Amino acid sequence: MIVTTKKLFEHAYGKYAIGAYNINNLEQIVGLFRGNLDSQAPFIIQISKGARSYTDKLFLEGLIRAADEVYPEAVFAVHLDHGDEATCYDCINSGFYSSVMIDGSSLPFEENIATTRRVVDAAHAKGIVVEAELGMLGGVEEHVQVAEADAKLTNPAQAREFVERSGCDSLAVAIGTSHGAFKFSGTQSLHFDVLAEIQERLPGFPLVMHGSSSVPQEEVERINAAGGNLAGAKGVDANQFRHAAELGVTKINIDTDGRLVWTRVHREFFLQHPEKFDLRDPGKVFMAEYAKFIAAKNEYLGSAGQLPDVRKFLGL
Ligand code: G3H
Ligand code: 13P
Ligand code: ZN
Repeated sequence: MIVTTKKLFEHAYGKYAIGAYNINNLEQIVGLFRGNLDSQAPFIIQISKGARSYTDKLFLEGLIRAADEVYPEAVFAVHLDHGDEATCYDCINSGFYSSVMIDGSSLPFEENIATTRRVVDAAHAKGIVVEAELGMLGGVEEHVQVAEADAKLTNPAQAREFVERSGCDSLAVAIGTSHGAFKFSGTQSLHFDVLAEIQERLPGFPLVMHGSSSVPQEEVERINAAGGNLAGAKGVDANQFRHAAELGVTKINIDTDGRLVWTRVHREFFLQHPEKFDLRDPGKVFMAEYAKFIAAKNEYLGSAGQLPDVRKFLGL
């Protein structure tokens, strides 16, 4: 069942974080639903602008509606990831998305507030909730590369004013993570001090951590051993998720790790089975591996096992 992130956050706040997983195709969607049901977790499906234009945005909508019927026990939100203003309105008017992100993080403070406010007004009129972003992550997203030097941590002193004036329902904060497979040139440096300061100024308000893939070294090694070249890839320590949740993070975004599962499965499959060419063969392996990956991630997030209680909380 599709619900708003707001409801999920109310249940999760201070206790655990909900996995927000980017999807692009059928196999990911099936693996995602299976993995979340296997681990009994609520979840958030994220659709980026790139995912919407990979084929036609209606295909993803159709696939997710079908998954909702095939897996009636699942409880999830459908969320636009890193939207611009026009895409937010398109999603708000579609009647399908329960949540949108307006990413005004590259705009000056006042412009970010004004843009977010316009999206919030349009979204709230239809019962849809809005994630906004303050601060700037490093890394790659939507063909935009943000250099480490240009990335900016969220300023806790601005966070409260931003939330009050924009009316957003959750806030993505930059605390040292970055998008993609190459985070942290040296050792990991997540700024929990900054997160704690933001929570102090916004008690009870749901915060979001982007760029939170772990880039498991075992996965990278397997990909490289099967012909890949991802030397130096590095991610966030998943053992930090629970601490982030205690500090008000209710949504943790993970995309890159799922892409690594896809790459490892397909590289290894064709290396081990050079005679095969039926796309369903690696597809089956991928769906099973993706489900396992999701279930394992939910254990770190603390969302595993929460589904029965979430269903009760929602009166389902
Ligand atoms: O933050 C970006 C997400 O990983 C989505 O990536 O824009 O390539 O679909 P994408
Ligand atoms: P990763 O690249 O770390 O998976 O981050 C995904 C993300 O933040 C999507 O919005
Ligand atoms: Zn992101």
